[in-house]
Order: sequence, then C-alpha cells, then structure tokens
Amino acid sequence: MVPSDTLTITDNRTNRTYTLPIEDGTIRSMDLRQIRTSNDDFGIMAYDPAFTNTASCRSSVTFIDGERGILEYRGYPIEVLAEHCTFLEVAYLLLFGELPNEAELNTWIYEITHHSMLHESTRKFMEGFRYDAHPMSMLVSTVAALSAVYPQAKDVQNPANRLHQVKRLIGKMPTIAAMSYRHGVGFPYVYPDNDLSYTENFMNMLWRMVEPKYAANPVLARALDILFILHADHEQNCSTNAMRSVGSSLADPYLCVAAAAAALAGPLHGGANEQVLKMLDEIGSKENIPAYVRRVKEGHGKLMGFGHRVYKNYDPRAKIIKWTAEQVFRVTGRNPKLDIALELENIALQDDYFVSRKLYPNVDFYSGIIYQAMGFKPEMFTVLFAIPRTVGWLAQWQEMLTDTEQKIARPRQIYTGHRTRRFLPMQERETAGVVKK
Ligand code: SDX
Repeated sequence: MVPSDTLTITDNRTNRTYTLPIEDGTIRSMDLRQIRTSNDDFGIMAYDPAFTNTASCRSSVTFIDGERGILEYRGYPIEVLAEHCTFLEVAYLLLFGELPNEAELNTWIYEITHHSMLHESTRKFMEGFRYDAHPMSMLVSTVAALSAVYPQAKDVQNPANRLHQVKRLIGKMPTIAAMSYRHGVGFPYVYPDNDLSYTENFMNMLWRMVEPKYAANPVLARALDILFILHADHEQNCSTNAMRSVGSSLADPYLCVAAAAAALAGPLHGGANEQVLKMLDEIGSKENIPAYVRRVKEGHGKLMGFGHRVYKNYDPRAKIIKWTAEQVFRVTGRNPKLDIALELENIALQDDYFVSRKLYPNVDFYSGIIYQAMGFKPEMFTVLFAIPRTVGWLAQWQEMLTDTEQKIARPRQIYTGHRTRRFLPMQERETAGVVKK
C-alpha cells in the first residue's frame, strides 16, 4: 500500500515509477535526482526562475496567506501589533520569537538606544559622498563600511557576538539614514538624543535645527512607528533572499545587510514607493488617470505600488497605511496626491486587466504619500523602508545560521551556451563572422 502523503512519478522515458514523500506540502528537489535514464545521467532537477514556486527554507518568523490577505509576525496579526505595540517591541518579537515583558523591553530599548552613535570615522566616510548622492546609495555603502569598523563581527558562529552586531545595526540604521538625508540638504549632522524614543530620535536627527531639544510631533512619531512595524519583515522577499544567500557564505552581518539593502533599492521591490510618487506626479490630476491606465494596459510601464508575488488579495499593510495617512494629514494637511491615488485605486480595482491579474495596492502604494506629507523627499522613501526591514533581515539571518538544514546557497543552471569549441587564433577571428551581441 503506497503511503498517502507521497507523489508517484512515472518517467515515460524509462517507464520506471518513483514514489517521493510529500512533507509540508513540498517534495524535496533532491529526491528528483534519482530519476535518471542511465547511471551516468545527472538526474532530474527542478527549474524555477525567480523561485516562483520554490521554498528555500523553513521559517517561523512571518506567515503570509496571499489569498486571504493575512500577515502575521511570530503568529500575531499585523493589525494587532500595529495597534498595540511600538516598533522596538515588534523588533524584539521578530528577533526572539516572543513579545517582551516590561523589564525585557526596557533593557532592549536601553541597549538599542546606546548603539545609535556612529564612529567618527564613519561620519567622515559619509562626508566623502557628492552633495547629490542618492541616500540609498549612501546607506548601502555606509552599512558595508561598518564591516571595517567592527571586524569582530566576522565571528558569525558566536551567538553573543551576533546579537551584539544585531543591536548595533538596529541602533545605527536611523543614524545613517538621517545623516544621508542631512548630507543631501547640506545641513550639519545631528547626533542621537538618548532621551527620545527610536522614532522620535530618528526625527530629531532628521529635522532638529538650532533648537536645544527636539520635540517630535507625537502623531507623526506614532505614524512612523506604525509604518516601521508594517515594514519590519515579509518572509522570503527579494531582499531577505539576498540576506540569507549572502549570509550562507558566513559573511559578516554588515555585508549581508548591505546586500539586502541593495536588493531593496530596486524599483520592483522597496524602490517602488519612490516610483509611486513619480507616477502620481506624471499623472498630475485625476482627469489624466484613464489615459495613464490605458498606456499601462497597452504594456507601457507598470502601475507602481500595485501587484505582489504573494498577495493575490489586498495587501493588509496597505489598509493600515491608508488609516495612518488620515492621522498624518490631520497634522500636515492633506496631500493632494492622495486624491489621485484613491481615484487610481478605484479605477484599477474595477478594470478587468488588473482584477484578472489580481493586482491590488501593495505596501508601497500609499506609504510614499505619507512620507511626502511628513516632509521626506522621494529619494528617502526606500531608506525609510530599509530601517525597519533591517530587523526582519537580521531575524531571518539568525534563523538561517541556526538551521541545521542550511548550508552555502549555490543554485544549479540549465546550460544553453557553446560546448568545447576549437580555439580561434587572432588571424582567424575577423573572418569567423562572430556576431557581437
Ligand atoms: C514589495 O515580496 C515581497 O514581499 C515584497 C514586499 C516586501 O514587503 O518585502 O511586499 C515589498 O516589493 C512590494 C512590491 C513593490 N513593487 C511594485 O509595486 C512594482 C510594481 N509591481 C510589479 O512589478 C509586480 O507586481 C511585482 C514585482 C510586485 C510582482 O511581480 P510578479 O509576481 O513577478 O508578477 P508578474 O510580473 O509575473 O505579473 C503578472 C502579470 C503580468 O502581466 P502578463 O504578462 O500576465 O500579461 O501582471 C502584470 C504583469 O505584466 N503586472 C502588472 C503589475 N504587476 C504585475 N501590470 C501593471 N502594473 C503592475 N504593477
């Protein structure tokens, strides 16, 4: 009797059948290698460009149900965490698996707060960038440069050392982000103020001018905290895959986070929020939306901030961000781009082109509108994504390093190039008709 949780495959090339175990809804790709036509045949591989149907790991950090629009961190629904927690509280949850008690949270806040300062050599490093350097380029480079400031971070097999670097990275990301902003506007850097909360201190380093003590608007500080919670982790997204892949070679966490932030910078990933604002600027008014949508449907560009590899329903984060936007606009005044965004969403959600492709607003569609209303320039939006996502990257990195099933990531390929060619001496090449691609 064949066990029920198995897959029976018949190789019609040999008429042989194989029975593979099904575990957690998956088959092990390596179980396919036994399917061969001869003893010197390499065996069957799975081919999955962009990993659209490949589980790369086991993880207990974040759960997403794309069909039902569900997002949970360590089992807690994102809506509950956004309503009741601070960002550092959620950071603790993601990294340690449980919500902290009051003593644990106070210790955690103290430790992160006391790792917010940057070494002066790092400040000088940042001063070397051109005045118009993109803040995301500055952030990626500066995080990588911290690898030189903390060489002991290379001992990634030491749990206490890993945790020390985790605290440093979480503490320093807002400082690096704020400095990349101040560099761009030509203002002097503002050093951390340990009396302030994580988000208030970030606002202090961004916006304090000559006042002796920065007083953050509590509504904006809370809105930023919620936005940080929403962006903290999202299971095996592109940048987390980069974090895990680079981390699998045992590179230090600064180099891993720099690689992950580099992936996040892409316009199809974390760079989308900046592209959404450029798209709304290009549309310009509600009257222009139908023509813009028509061009997208004809294949000219994408509706930035729409669509998702996993969510085939509304991104639960977008709903919370829309609510947060209303709170922010009560303080900053309404961003007129919100009206264009709402009308664009309304039109798209009734258009079969988008509905049939299950393209709904994602986390990036509304976040940029809030950030702009807060006073951030679009170039800063992905930096604002990278700060909280550093927690998710580090939680996933820790999980990868302690997973006994994991080892250095090294995918296979289907080779499509030439084989064993005769070498062409120079005098033969011009007449060989080699076409330069
Ligand atoms: C993030 O993975 C994560 O979790 C990411 C993230 C996180 O928290 O880490 O959630 C953050 O990156 C959100 C996504 C931000 N990116 C954008 O908003 C950019 C615009 N969106 C698309 O580029 C796209 O939707 C992706 C990249 C998000 C998802 O791409 P997929 O899953 O590879 O889907 P696809 O490109 O195969 O698209 C399927 C179809 C295609 O049409 P057909 O070829 O079938 O005719 O839908 C079309 C696509 O052309 N399509 C879009 C579209 N997104 C997909 N058409 C118009 N506008 C869009 N936005």
